[in-house]
Amino acid sequence: MLATVMNELDAPGNAIPAWRDRPALQQPAYPDAEALAAVGADLRSRPPLVFAGEVDALRAQMAAAAQGRAFVLMGGDCAESFEAGSATSIRLKVQTILQMAAVLTYAASTPVVKIGRMAGQYAKPRSVETETREGLTLPSYRGDSVNGHAFTAQARTPDPARMLEAYLRSGTTLNLVRAFTMGGYADLREVHSWNRGFTANPAYKRFESFAGEIDRAMRFMEAAGVDFEALRQVDFYAAHEALLLEYEDAMIRQDSRTGRLYGTSAHLLWVGERTRGAEDAHVALLEGIHNPVGVKIGPSTTPQELIDLIDHLNPAGEPGRLSLITRMGAERIRQALPPLIEAVRGDGRPVTWITDPMHGNTITSDNGYKTRRFDTIMEEVRGFFEVHREMGTVPGGIHVELTGDDVTECLGGGEHIDEAALARRYETLVDPRLNHQQSLEMAFEVAELLR
Ligand code: PEP
Ligand code: CO
Repeated sequence: MLATVMNELDAPGNAIPAWRDRPALQQPAYPDAEALAAVGADLRSRPPLVFAGEVDALRAQMAAAAQGRAFVLMGGDCAESFEAGSATSIRLKVQTILQMAAVLTYAASTPVVKIGRMAGQYAKPRSVETETREGLTLPSYRGDSVNGHAFTAQARTPDPARMLEAYLRSGTTLNLVRAFTMGGYADLREVHSWNRGFTANPAYKRFESFAGEIDRAMRFMEAAGVDFEALRQVDFYAAHEALLLEYEDAMIRQDSRTGRLYGTSAHLLWVGERTRGAEDAHVALLEGIHNPVGVKIGPSTTPQELIDLIDHLNPAGEPGRLSLITRMGAERIRQALPPLIEAVRGDGRPVTWITDPMHGNTITSDNGYKTRRFDTIMEEVRGFFEVHREMGTVPGGIHVELTGDDVTECLGGGEHIDEAALARRYETLVDPRLNHQQSLEMAFEVAELLR
């Protein structure tokens, strides 16, 4: 068995998509081309992080979500950091996602597809190339797989060796995630008892009766003889933005069963709002691999751009292949989304619609923090559900920036985090994340929309 799995993916030969001939946005300016090439060669010789069979299983689940037979929950840091990747922080993130998934599964009465925005989320697109502090201008921080966050010339110079570190960190993170989710930590009874702890907090009293309903369902399952031991293992997938072309290219492997190419840095890869040009390098790279892929879609997206993206990324209309992750902003989603849905519906090729209610709702607080309001985030989620319900299409999932830690980065929620509280524990390297409690609160509120 092990031998089969190990042989499944080989080095790809010559069939890599010709992304190098296309415009490539948001790539680091590496000072040393030879060092970069050496890292690429090294990565090509290493084992894949995920396997083709797992990737195919996820594609089938994404297809189910497009039809309302499953619901996708994707969550994790805006930018993972090498330093913060401790066992505790990984465990708390997985725990948070499992707790959210339990609530959503009950509400939707369908499986929830659990995808960590983790084990590889190390590269960031930036709106500005440089950052200036007290007269000193340096390259912007682009994620730990590119450069360091510290504001020194040395740290900010892109270093290709960081891609090797990202590969190893991704591998160790995935290893722990697999151990947690396959080793009994995902036991539904345990996960539900954590949720009971959450609803016992007076701030979240309004969710108690819902949690009570799940209690009764669990007791019914137990009485009916459901084998809870068999429910101790769950499928948990990894996803990140495929931003760093040299890294993603070096992680492509060929499935020896079918000859198909797979990106093996994660199960699902997406392109961001800033790099989604249909004729550009990022889309070309995703065109060549057989993974389920996503595209972030902002409010200025035109119907024609979407059709062009589908032409490139899912020409044959394969179910589960393409997810459109809309990030419109709470104020714009109700106007911006319908014409896009209309165009895609008219086209007929299936997509999985997912809402990212984070990136269209970023503000700066009066005391200078990049933040988001919990209520605004929820307002975009509500808009997403409303529009899909009105149009008879399927709201297939949510994509959120979250952490299992008790940080104070987003405003509001049951704990009423205010501007002053942001200073208490603001740790994100790029965008503000929902903390553990805010994430669960979101799950209970989304549950109400799913019922
Ligand atoms: C992100 O997901 O962190 C991000 C940069 O998103 P977008 O491409 O939608 O702006
Ligand atoms: Co972000």
